[in-house]
Amino acid sequence: MAILKIARMGHPILAGVAAPVADPTAPEIRALAEDMIETMIDANGAGLAAPQVHVPLRLVIFQAPPERSDPDMSEEERFDATAPLTILANPVIEILEPELEGGIEGCLSVPGLRGFVERPRAIRYSGTTLSGETVTRVARGFHARVVQHECDHLDGVLYPMRMRDLSKLMFESELRHYTSPTNKA
Ligand code: NI
Repeated sequence: MAILKIARMGHPILAGVAAPVADPTAPEIRALAEDMIETMIDANGAGLAAPQVHVPLRLVIFQAPPERSDPDMSEEERFDATAPLTILANPVIEILEPELEGGIEGCLSVPGLRGFVERPRAIRYSGTTLSGETVTRVARGFHARVVQHECDHLDGVLYPMRMRDLSKLMFESELRHYTSPTNKA
C-alpha cells in the first residue's frame, strides 16, 4: 500500500483517453486500486480515477455516503443517491434523465478550486469489479455526479471543461460567498 502522487491540471496524463483494463482480476490492478483508495482517503476525496495517479487505464474508485444525499429526495431516489466504496474497471454510463442538475464540484487534480457544474440528473452505469463481476446501478444526486466526474477523467475531461459559466469557478476559501437555489453545499 502506498500513497500515490496526484497529477494536477495541465499534466498531459489528464488530457488523454485511458485504455481499457484487459483483466480486472489481475493482481496488479488490485494493487493499483488499493493504492488509489489509500490516496483518495489521505486526500479526503470522494473519488479518484487511475489517470489522476499517472496510470492511463479505465479504472475508477468512488463513494457516495448517505450524508451527501439530498433530504428532499424520495426514499427510492435517496437509495440511488448513495453508494459504498466502489472499484470499477471499464465503466460505462447511460443517461436516464438528460435534464441537467447543478452542483458544486471539486477535484483532487484541481486543488483549491470549486466550480458549479451541470450534469444529467440520473444515470445507469455498469462496470467490472476486481472479482470479475459486472455491477449495474442507477444513480442520482451526488452519486450520479461523482460517477460522471470520475468517468470523465477516463476521457481526458476535467470538470472546468464542463462548466458553462466560468464566473462560478472559485477558490474553496471563497465558497461561502456563493449561493444558488440548486446548490446546498
Ligand atoms: Ni476529479
